[in-house]
Amino acid sequence: MLNPLSRWLLPLLIGNLSILTCVAQTSTAEDSEALQIYQDHCAGCHGAQRTGAMGPALLPESLARLRKAEALNVMLHGRVLTQMPAFARQIPEEKLQRLIELIYSPPAEPPRWEEKDITQSRVSYPVPDNDKPLFSADPQNLFIVVELGDHSATLLDGDKFEAITRFKTRFALHGGPKFSPDGRYVYFASRDGWISKYDIYNMTYLAEIRVGINTRNLAISADGQYLIAANYLPGNLVLLSSKDLSLIKIIPASSGDTTSRVSAVYTAPPRHGFVAALKDIAEVWEITPSDTDAQIRRIPTSEYLDDFFFDQNYQYLIGSSRKGNSAQVVNLDSGNTVADLSIEGMPHLGSGITWKYQDTEVLMTPNLKDSRLTIIDMSNWKTIRQLDTQGPGFFTRSHDGSPYAWSDVFFGPHKDLINIIDKKSLEIVKTLRPSPGKTSGHVEFTRDGRYALLSIWDDDGELIVYDSKTLEEVKRLPMKKPSGKYNVYNKTRYVRGTSH
Ligand code: HEC
Repeated sequence: MLNPLSRWLLPLLIGNLSILTCVAQTSTAEDSEALQIYQDHCAGCHGAQRTGAMGPALLPESLARLRKAEALNVMLHGRVLTQMPAFARQIPEEKLQRLIELIYSPPAEPPRWEEKDITQSRVSYPVPDNDKPLFSADPQNLFIVVELGDHSATLLDGDKFEAITRFKTRFALHGGPKFSPDGRYVYFASRDGWISKYDIYNMTYLAEIRVGINTRNLAISADGQYLIAANYLPGNLVLLSSKDLSLIKIIPASSGDTTSRVSAVYTAPPRHGFVAALKDIAEVWEITPSDTDAQIRRIPTSEYLDDFFFDQNYQYLIGSSRKGNSAQVVNLDSGNTVADLSIEGMPHLGSGITWKYQDTEVLMTPNLKDSRLTIIDMSNWKTIRQLDTQGPGFFTRSHDGSPYAWSDVFFGPHKDLINIIDKKSLEIVKTLRPSPGKTSGHVEFTRDGRYALLSIWDDDGELIVYDSKTLEEVKRLPMKKPSGKYNVYNKTRYVRGTSH
């Protein structure tokens, strides 16, 4: 069995990280009484196969971040303001405990989600006859803020820091939303496999489709024509047309007899395609899409790699090994592994950032297990600095318009701290505690880099705006667990300092 922490922690892009539970993968003999209770009381909303319907999927992969104690609490008391009812009066607690064991175990029959399920799930909404924004804010300096607390998103004016609108999303968005190259549309992926297309100018959804049962993230091609989703369940990639979200191709993540979970998929703009990280096959896949098909190039690697970082030209890929103690550098042109970096402490390369330092370019990555930041010289892949921090981190961010890089302390007792690193001296020059006791994390900059927006990851959370030069606080906006925020300009121009 894999190390349970690395099994699901590494590829996490965004989500609720305060809960670290490992999931039993061993299938126990099914408890037929619990199954019956499930069919009688839960299946109507959560699906006969537990793959979700009106309510979310209840499978081990889906529940990876929900503690069993919290699941019991939800089942006893329901969730306020949602359709999840309380069962304390109907089902004895002992039976609810057995239901928990049931939903945290894989079903006897692996759940399926096939071509007809995907195509039949597609919904389109009326397309408004208007192609100008219905608001006056700069359309290139907008932010989408994902609020996991109540499954909503806020469209934020990046100059005034005021909400333009706030709308419901699918349950538990996963991975960052992706913008069309012109910034007009945004595409979301949810944990349970829903892809949604939202028209920012008209502030309305245009189409949705369910591409899988458990989805990791979504990528958009540089030309904006194709979307691709990475799935854990079933283990595949699903290629869509971005126009109407119609299905182009299902790409099973198989090699020989092994079908792999897909940890993540990334767009590689200069390569006109995508690169996928496979959890259970030691290969990196380069995928080149077309209107009817997709070409797959398989690059064998000596380790299982997931969680990737790319250099600015997308010539090199740096992938963390699943064991968590090294990272490998793969030349995407030749397919050769050109360096093996030993980085203890499980680097979180997916949120690594680069900047120009002296006459070279450096990469800084937080570590998910060690209390330190690692800075690597990208010309020779040598670690040139390790910065001790107050706990393991998750996100780092910077912008060419800012002299500083920001990095959170996401785990442990100091999760309320944020370190500011001077990009010239490579030292931590300031540590902020924006909201004592509450997790702070995920910074994104305005288009010009003048302001940095930080999240307080709490159901009663906030978005805090800082002047990125003076590091003074400018504004606070209350938000419900604002997990991530995405600036149209920075994301569509692949600005250095932001992860993609
Ligand atoms: C009337 C519909 C309905 C029924 C019946 C129902 N649920 Fe739910 N359940 C929901 C909805 C909707 C949510 C999502 C709530 C939210 O938005 O947080 C949910 C959430 C949950 C969650 C939390 C999932 C997560 O990832 O946070 C668990 C656990 C759960 N339900 C278990 C059960 C069990 C077990 C039963 C049967 C005993 C059951 N539910 C019956 C609608 C229902």
